[in-house]
Amino acid sequence: MTNPARVRRSWAEPYKIKTVELLHMTTREEREAALLEAGYNTFLLRSREVYIDLLTDSGTSAMSDRQWAALMLGDEAYSGSENFYNLVESVQEHYGYKYLVPTHQGRGAENLMSQILIRPGDFIPGNMYFTTTRLHQELSGGQFVDVIVDEAHVPGSTFPFKGNVDLRKLEQLVSDVGADHIPYISLEGNVNMAGGQPFSMQNLHDLHAFCRKHDILIMLDATRTVENAWFIQQREEGWGDKSVKQILLEICNLTDGCTMSAKKDSLVNIGGFFACNSEEIYLKAQNLVVVYEGLHTYGGLAGRDMEAMAQGIRESVEEAHQAARIGQVYYLGEMLESAGVPIVKPIGAHAIFIDARAFLPHLDQDQYPAQALAAEIYKEAGIRAMERGNVSAGRDPETGENRHPKLELVRLTLPRRVYTQAHMDVVAETILDVFERRTEIRGLEMIYEPEYLRFFQARFQPIEG
Ligand code: F0G
Repeated sequence: MTNPARVRRSWAEPYKIKTVELLHMTTREEREAALLEAGYNTFLLRSREVYIDLLTDSGTSAMSDRQWAALMLGDEAYSGSENFYNLVESVQEHYGYKYLVPTHQGRGAENLMSQILIRPGDFIPGNMYFTTTRLHQELSGGQFVDVIVDEAHVPGSTFPFKGNVDLRKLEQLVSDVGADHIPYISLEGNVNMAGGQPFSMQNLHDLHAFCRKHDILIMLDATRTVENAWFIQQREEGWGDKSVKQILLEICNLTDGCTMSAKKDSLVNIGGFFACNSEEIYLKAQNLVVVYEGLHTYGGLAGRDMEAMAQGIRESVEEAHQAARIGQVYYLGEMLESAGVPIVKPIGAHAIFIDARAFLPHLDQDQYPAQALAAEIYKEAGIRAMERGNVSAGRDPETGENRHPKLELVRLTLPRRVYTQAHMDVVAETILDVFERRTEIRGLEMIYEPEYLRFFQARFQPIEG
């Protein structure tokens, strides 16, 4: 198990601040008007209406001076940019895969992989869904099947590896549909929707043996896998003396390829990639990327973006970086936990997830408690969080009903290297103020629902009475 003291003691940031971005303060009246205008959806707020922005850790990192310097090395050639080759080298050194296709962000890579590997009628098991990942599987004619351990669906469970695959569930799927209809398992590092929860190396070893036996590929969602590696180092017997860099390589070594949203772990504002070891799959991805993203040596990115990514990857595996990054998340989480706010445990790496059902037990799940709570937190002090519950889960394509996920969460997501400990104090004080008056909070009804990924653009209004 994690030793929180170990996490906390040494988390001071391994950098100092060279440039600052001024923040906007708003009045309560302005925030109420902004919320109305945004249809009670924090995605639809303008960023200038936000004081502390904890919407996402995606593309919101502060880049280092070296990354900014890397931008100046941009080789903006349409083909064969030097930056592409530097990125290939950085990915090979840290992730270990042979072949790389850059994409504009994670979902671009998901699109390529889903189209290449999934045939209509296939099943794609995964350690919990992610919104864009599942949608691309469905658009390719596949069906996602959740094979994560049960503990992942229980916010209060303190199981240290809630990102683990339940091999019995996977075995059941294989015997129900046959391994021929399972092209790959989608394995996510530090599972986002479960609260930023890691899988263990032991579990991955077991999964690897199972998948080799049944000839099923393991495709990693590497988006937050450096953070997963850090948890393995902290929590798993036998890995405490290995570096994050070594652990990351070992994880990748046990998988067949990955999709990556470099906007998280890799500390860039835009970028992603698809990587794999099979030449056959690579050639298909290299060809398909031309249709959707751009030539295979830039995949929708400027040369300078690829150079910043190559450098960001190198910085992401630094122990001091991860200790400070995850230490800050723990700092916020422990403040909330000790005040009795219900949060997902153990605390994850990229965010604190408030259990909105336990926070607002008087609301039915179809009154969108997490959406309502995110709106209240914004109204209280201009802090922007995100719903990860009934709205994000969307509707079952067969029945058309809301999916009613077990987890109904509000995510306070921490951008990397952006906010200070004092900001975390303000966030905690705000949540506690909202917690005090929680019985007054009303539910919401959805008044506009887009067809795809509805959480981004849906609009709501408070339920009267
Ligand atoms: N996989 C995971 C686990 C993610 O968290 C995300 C994005 C993606 C894939 C897609 O990557 O945005 O670069 O296209 N997550 C963001 C978030 C949006 O806020 O959690 P993308």
